[in-house]
Amino acid sequence: MFDLSGRVAVVTGGAGNLGREYTRALLEAGALVVVADIRSEIAAEVADAAVAACGSEAFGVGVDVASKDDIGRMTTTVLEKWGRLDILINNAAIDPKFDSDSAAQQHYSFEDYPLDLWQRSMNVNLTGAFLCAQAAGRVMVQQGGGVMVNVCSTYGLVAPDQRLYRQEGEVAQTLFKPADYGVTKAGIAQLTRYLAVYWGDKNIRVNTLTPGGVRLAQDDGFVQRYEQRTPIGRMANLGEMSGALLFLVSDASSYMTGANLVVDGGWTAW
Ligand SMILES: NC(=O)c1ccc[n+]([C@@H]2O[C@H](COP(=O)([O-])OP(=O)(O)OC[C@H]3O[C@@H](n4cnc5c(N)ncnc54)[C@H](O)[C@@H]3O)[C@@H](O)[C@H]2O)c1
Repeated sequence: MFDLSGRVAVVTGGAGNLGREYTRALLEAGALVVVADIRSEIAAEVADAAVAACGSEAFGVGVDVASKDDIGRMTTTVLEKWGRLDILINNAAIDPKFDSDSAAQQHYSFEDYPLDLWQRSMNVNLTGAFLCAQAAGRVMVQQGGGVMVNVCSTYGLVAPDQRLYRQEGEVAQTLFKPADYGVTKAGIAQLTRYLAVYWGDKNIRVNTLTPGGVRLAQDDGFVQRYEQRTPIGRMANLGEMSGALLFLVSDASSYMTGANLVVDGGWTAW
């Protein structure tokens, strides 16, 4: 049921924290994987390391998902190499984190949030998913089927609890989860529903995967506050999204389309 032997998968944002996990899980299930990321060198490294660890075949490709030309080139390369495209994971996103360059994005109040950052998120997180779905969908319609997973976030379902981002001893809060992130993620979930219905009779299934917060290099205060707010009492481990992903892209979920699989330790249950 979970076997993906011979199926060709594209993982956008494949060089990122979760993209690497998805790449390995797909390879272990027998898929041929394209690690598509704007960081082309890291994408190639991730592909090579994953094949060495898990077998099957993969390659890395440098693409900006917000560029229609890049997506067109990538699709041509995939078709030239493997002749089909069965699985698209729309995973690339600008997701501001404490421990990365994007952290600067969190140092604005909503009232002062710069338009260019808002537009950059729209372009990558939402337009990127639109462009990739369009290119992959064209191939899938022609070949008679396929599967897509659009990666959302709990912040696309509920608003961020901004108290989590308040630093110890701060009188006036300076760090916030920006609005653009959750707004683009809410859009992703709607793109799923639209496409699931649109391609319902074309043997193309489209679902949303909604991860909760994954433990990376967040500071201890944040982790503690997050844990208190989570029914399961902890953040997710990196590997804990892969089972849900495999379920959604394999025949195990053959009667599922337009749905949202939420893997958040109960975050949105109360
Ligand atoms: N990590 C979490 O806690 C968490 C929680 C909920 C949802 N998510 C979602 O899961 C997905 C992956 O998250 P992650 O933690 O692995 O993030 P990450 O930042 O580690 O990975 C994102 C990847 O996308 C790539 N990318 C950015 N802009 C791009 C562009 N224009 N074109 C192509 N690639 C681009 C980056 O280079 C990076 O490798 C995202 O959609 C994120 O919103 C993550």
